This record gives sequence, C-alpha cells and structure tokens, in this order.
Amino acid sequence: MLFLSVMVKLNLGGCSSFVSEAEYSQYMDKAMAAWEVLDKETGEGNDFLGWKILPSETPETLIRDCENIRDDWKSKDVDLVVVIGIGGSYLGARCAIEALSHNFAKQLKNKGRDPEIVFAGNNLSEEYLAELMDLVSERNAACVVISKSGTTTEPAVAFRIVKEYLEKTYGKKEAAERIVAITDAKKGALKTLSNQEGYRTFIVPNNVGGRFSVLTPVGLLPIVLAGYDVRAMLSGAEEMQKALSEKSVDNPAIQYAAMRNLLYDKYGKKVEVLVSYNPKLQYLGEWWKQLFGESEGKDGKGIFPASVVCTTDLHSMGQFIQDGDRVMFETIVNVEKSNRSVVIGSDPQNLDQLNYLAGQHVEHCNAMAQLGTKLAHIDGGVPQIEISIERIDAYNLGGLFYFFEYACGVSAYILGVNPFNQPGVEAYKKNMFALLKKPGFEAQTAAIEKRLAQ
Ligand code: PA5
Repeated sequence: MLFLSVMVKLNLGGCSSFVSEAEYSQYMDKAMAAWEVLDKETGEGNDFLGWKILPSETPETLIRDCENIRDDWKSKDVDLVVVIGIGGSYLGARCAIEALSHNFAKQLKNKGRDPEIVFAGNNLSEEYLAELMDLVSERNAACVVISKSGTTTEPAVAFRIVKEYLEKTYGKKEAAERIVAITDAKKGALKTLSNQEGYRTFIVPNNVGGRFSVLTPVGLLPIVLAGYDVRAMLSGAEEMQKALSEKSVDNPAIQYAAMRNLLYDKYGKKVEVLVSYNPKLQYLGEWWKQLFGESEGKDGKGIFPASVVCTTDLHSMGQFIQDGDRVMFETIVNVEKSNRSVVIGSDPQNLDQLNYLAGQHVEHCNAMAQLGTKLAHIDGGVPQIEISIERIDAYNLGGLFYFFEYACGVSAYILGVNPFNQPGVEAYKKNMFALLKKPGFEAQTAAIEKRLAQ
C-alpha cells in the first residue's frame, strides 16, 4: 500500500500487518463519502470552510501589505517583534518559523537582517511576561497582536503590558506605528482598540477558524517578518489543494483519514503519535496536535494526538511506545533530504569505535535510526503511517499544512463530529472568569465559591 501524490507521499505499508485489505477498503468507502461532504460543503461547520481556497485565492496585494510592514519596521531598525496570540492565533506561525529557522539563529554572530520573533500571550505566566519585558526593554521592538475574537484573555493581558511599554518608550504616535493587529473585520475589543488608536490591521476571514488560519495573515505576517517566503508556502499549499481535490483512491488525505479511523474504530488505537526526526519539526507536532485535538476531540470521541521528536524522545518515550499499553499508532513525518551536510570523519585511534561510520552523512545514521525504530515498533504492535516530504522548506511546509487541514476535515466527518467548532474550550474560561470575578459572572462566582468551600 504505497501511493504517490505530487509532493506529500503517504506510505501505509507499516499498517499492513495489522489491518486487512478488506477492512481498509471499507474505511476507504467511508473516507470517500466524508471527502464528498467536505468537497461539496454539505457537512456541519460548513460556514468555516474559507481555508480550503486560501492557497489559490490569496491576493498578491495581501503579501505586499505584509512586506510593507516588514520594510517599514526594517527602516526603523526594529530587531525584535513580539507576536501575541494563542492556539490557532499562534501555533501555525511558530511552527513555520521554527521549521525554517537556523537552529542556533539566536546565538549566531551573523544574525542576518531580519528581526527576531518571540511569542507571547500564549500563557498566563507572570515570570514569562516579566522576562519577556526584560528582553523587550533591551531591544528595538514592535508587536503583532493576533486574536480573531479580539476578546481572548491571554493575548489581551500580554498586549496590555507590551502596549503600555511601547507607548511609554516611543510615545503614543510612534507606538501605534509599531503595533499591527490581526483580528475580525468588524467586531471584538481588539478591533475597537485598533480603530481608536489607528493601528494597521489585517483581517482574519470570518469563515476560517483559528487552527485553520496559518495561511491567512495570522500565519503569513509573522512568517514574512521573520524573513521567509510565503509565496513559496502558498504555492506548495496550492499544489496540495489541486492534488486533494480529486476524489480518488490515490488521494493521500482520503487514505490517511481512512487508515487512522480504521485503527481507532477496530483496533482500539486511541492515541496517534506524530513522529519527526528533526528538532525543527517540534512545533509541527504542536500545531498538528491542536488541529486534530480541537477538531476531533468532542462528543466523547476522538484520537488523542501526541507527538515526539526522535531520536531525542526514543530515550524518554521510546520504552513506552515499544513496550507499554498498546493504545497507539504512529504517523512519521519523513523528510527525504537534509538541507545541510555533515560527514563523519575517520579517527586513527577509533576509541569511540565509530570508524565503521567514517565517510557517512549524519543524516544516513538518522535515516537508519528511523527505519530501525519503525520496524521495532511494528514488531512491538504499533502500526506505522509514513508521510514523506522532500525537504524542510517553505514550499513543502505549505503542502504539509494544507494536507493535514484537509485530512483533518475528512477524518472528523468519518468520526461523525463537526471539525470546525470547539465547544470544550469554553469550560475553563467560564470558571476562570468566575474566579477572577469578571463583571457579568457574579452568579458563576457565587456558585464556584460555594463549590470550593465544600
Ligand atoms: O482554533 C481555534 O479556534 C482556537 O484555538 C483559537 O485560535 C484560540 O482560542 C484563540 O482565539 P482568538 O484568536 O479568538 O484569540
């Protein structure tokens, strides 16, 4: 079971000893039907499908607007941009920037001309914010604040602090030039504030949910500011958009959705572990976890998404994956080519006994670790799905983003849930507002205080 598409290759061979062809074809039928629902836009949540056409419909003017902000801030010698947002208003940009950045960008002497991007508003840690401000106060800073609703507490708290600092340091007028807001076209506190203060703004389309928004300004602006090529990213995504628009047994999104639902339904594989072998993809795992976790985990259903970065995590989670409770399957993100080359040298003494590897690329060792682990995990009862891209670059990342978004929609429809809402996210907020005594929550405050006193 190896099928090819233009840029994302899916290999289901690591599942073949676990499932039969007949079972797989039964789930392919379900996946084809779910694909049809997504394609024809007849399912629940179909008012949130704007992400489907972003790759082909994003206007060049939007990219130029992002580049104008980049050039304006460069002309002011801005060397630090604080990107404020949480969940879908944060993870896509972070994933792309971490994947495309030099591992040691911060430590390199020649840092290049692009500003450093740091993230805030994705937690409520006081220490984090205090330490962020230590950094901001040493640098020439600007800020992008992102909130589709414009009312989320975490980014609002961080923004209040960063805004106050920028206004105190640069004056209100210049601070307004150093702040860009990305929010709803019409509503929300951030929109009102932006209108009042005259911030430059970008719109989060109202038919695109947070976790599907990486190819809107939510992802594009921070990625442009970090110096990366969003045209290439959109063109990779567009290639996937074309490939996934075919209702075919070779459509990798349909295949992936079919196999993961089969493993979940029939084999009790309730956990999916996204595995990568490059530390730059750690945040791909974080982005993917939100995408699938928030889209599928509802109505008492869903595959729990987890992630590991190997070989690092083979020395922590490897034991459990090999030998613990057999609840999981793995989806490996296989990168075929390394962007850099390091060859292992020969040592006359060979005390470390590594001369058998002399002349080999380190990536060859990584590939053999990956293959050896895959086989060991199959032997240990863990089905293996493999998704390959040629290399880590903006083009392939764009394709991967679109592939996972589309596959997520198909998969959630097979599961029988609305992929595009997130009712469960509200529960903690209600309790937090009640505990913080937010005006309007008086009844909930009284109820929660009574509960805590019991
Ligand atoms: O995917 C989602 O919809 C969520 O994760 C949101 O992105 C997150 O809650 C942040 O919301 P907002 O952008 O409204 O601040």
